Amino acid sequence: MRIILVGYGVVGKGVTTIIARRYLEKVKDYGFSPKIVAIADIDGAVINPRGLSPEKLEELKQRRAPTNPISADPDFGHPGMSALDVIESVEAEVVVEVTPVNIKNAEPALSHITKAFKTGKHVVTTNKGPLALAMPALTELAEYNNVYLRFSGTVGGGTPMLEFAKRCLAGDKILGIRGILNGTTNYILTEMPQNRVTFQEALTNAQKLGYAEREPSMDIDGFDTACKVVILANWVMNQKITLRDVDRTGIRDVSLQELDEAAKKGNTIKLIGSIENGKATVKPMEIPKNNPLCVSGVLNAITFFTEYAGEETLIGRGAGSMETASAVLRDLLDIRHKLANRLT
Ligand SMILES: NC(=O)c1ccc[n+]([C@@H]2O[C@H](COP(=O)([O-])OP(=O)(O)OC[C@H]3O[C@@H](n4cnc5c(N)ncnc54)[C@H](OP(=O)(O)O)[C@@H]3O)[C@@H](O)[C@H]2O)c1
Repeated sequence: MRIILVGYGVVGKGVTTIIARRYLEKVKDYGFSPKIVAIADIDGAVINPRGLSPEKLEELKQRRAPTNPISADPDFGHPGMSALDVIESVEAEVVVEVTPVNIKNAEPALSHITKAFKTGKHVVTTNKGPLALAMPALTELAEYNNVYLRFSGTVGGGTPMLEFAKRCLAGDKILGIRGILNGTTNYILTEMPQNRVTFQEALTNAQKLGYAEREPSMDIDGFDTACKVVILANWVMNQKITLRDVDRTGIRDVSLQELDEAAKKGNTIKLIGSIENGKATVKPMEIPKNNPLCVSGVLNAITFFTEYAGEETLIGRGAGSMETASAVLRDLLDIRHKLANRLT
């Protein structure tokens, strides 16, 4: 399987690492032989139609843009070549799209994904932007072009929340979903009562530890959770919704006093994304401290309310370079499996 990697940051580097490390065992176990034939970053690309060797991938990881970008590689570098040109001109089966999220117009990822579809390439992405803004249209476009779109790393990072719902609960009916889907806000809401700090102090700590961005709105105003709710609603509940359909409240106004009041009743406050009775919502909610969903720190958790199996809760790390890269590898294996079945 020939792969074009678009975006060479935290997740992109994780993807090249995991493919190099897991290569031999995946070839052996699944007959799966992934080859990264191109990497496109903001300022250019590296291309080798025969596949970039593990040694070359390791060498590229040491380069640092903007002074020493990957496109300056003497063997395979193409300075200034755009990701769109790479997707258009390089032969490959799959594009792995891992550029930064943008929930205003989903670019540049939306153009990368549609270009991949139009040139007959499957897409694996961890980028929530295009899915949050245009998931129904993108799934249709993928079907129209007879290609697959996979995005398991967009919800839960490496924790297989989407697959668990889709595959493991396939025999049941999912009636509702509730989740703590954002590690930053969960860290803040854990830190406030534990260390007796205000929202602002907890946010500053989260920023110091690298859990929160300098511009934290995406997390604390609930946009990130809302994007994940959209993906769950479309993929798991068959609801054709986008970001504007989610009723969203963030955690800026949660006070230490409210957390103390909740604690007196054996509860705490968490930012919960939910899909219940056909409504998609993100808001801070009181939940019992002994509820399985009530995880602390940067952990994520999700509960599926099912007709027969009852409540099923999955807990795990919701982000991280290698964690998210493992979701990308899972998606690549899934596409490989689907393609093999097409041939039989
Ligand atoms: N990090 C995680 O744990 C995690 C977990 C789940 C999902 N995600 C999602 O995965 C995606 C990637 O995350 P990340 O943490 O790897 O982000 P990142 O470290 O910012 O990496 C993104 C890379 O894409 C490059 N880029 C920007 N515009 C581009 C363009 N037009 N063409 C080609 N490359 C371009 C960036 O270059 P510059 O830096 O020069 O702009 C950067 O190298 C995001 O959508 C994120 O929300 C991340």
